[in-house]
Amino acid sequence: MSHIEAVRNVCGETFAPPRHVAIIMDGNGRWAAQRGLPRGEGHRRGVEALRRTVRAAGDLGIDILTLFSFSSENWSRPLAEVRDLMGLLRRFVRNDLAELHHKNVRVRIIGERHLLDPEIGRLLQEAEDLTRGNTGLTLVVAFNYGARQEVARAARRLAAEVAAGRLAPEAITAESIAAHLDAPDLPDPDLIIRTSGEQRLSNFLLWQAAYSELVFVPTYWPDFDRAALESAIAEYRRRERRFGGLAARAGTGS
Ligand code: FPP
Repeated sequence: MSHIEAVRNVCGETFAPPRHVAIIMDGNGRWAAQRGLPRGEGHRRGVEALRRTVRAAGDLGIDILTLFSFSSENWSRPLAEVRDLMGLLRRFVRNDLAELHHKNVRVRIIGERHLLDPEIGRLLQEAEDLTRGNTGLTLVVAFNYGARQEVARAARRLAAEVAAGRLAPEAITAESIAAHLDAPDLPDPDLIIRTSGEQRLSNFLLWQAAYSELVFVPTYWPDFDRAALESAIAEYRRRERRFGGLAARAGTGS
């Protein structure tokens, strides 16, 4: 379903879903601890929540769904947990890629790929290559991703152009920095959701979040589902987005 097709009438109002939703999937460990289970079980259930959310996002007419799957800072976790998360990513791509492709999902990856295990690097590349021509939901997987590192990468790319004499330092603008981020063609997220009750961005999409609406939900990620996504979108719809301008005032010419 396209964004336009998904604009629908609810209780007499026109309802356009946010075009780009990004999610910080948090609380896997606490979900497991609450049940006396190992943290790895929380992550495994987290993958199920991820599948549910991808399906729901497509059904709700969202164009782009970005998921924070592994942060640049997650390497500081115990080795066994890092291995667990890498294994889950491998299995996710191996088991789910064909179905995502079948459902016309386009997979994009943001984050630092160079230092990843070569097998993981190949799988991520395969996911992007196979689905490149798809026109349905764009699923952006932020893997080995940190926003400060992404901005630093953009700065390095611009600095290389300056050093090569192709760009004047005065020509560097907010737009040119944005054009050198990892997925420069995608619009900024309209809505960023963080689960588990924590209220911070934790180095996620810091540049792109300038005017995003932030919605924090108490649900631990493994319990996140379509109803939780719908209620975060309902909260988003209650917000007034001003992008630094003034509030729209109905019925006044002033
Ligand atoms: C946060 O829970 C979650 C993550 C570290 C990343 C999200 C990972 C998944 C959903 C599973 C992996 C999926 C793929 C495709 C790699 P936490 O461990 O920080 O929870 P806590 O704050 O309660 O300890």
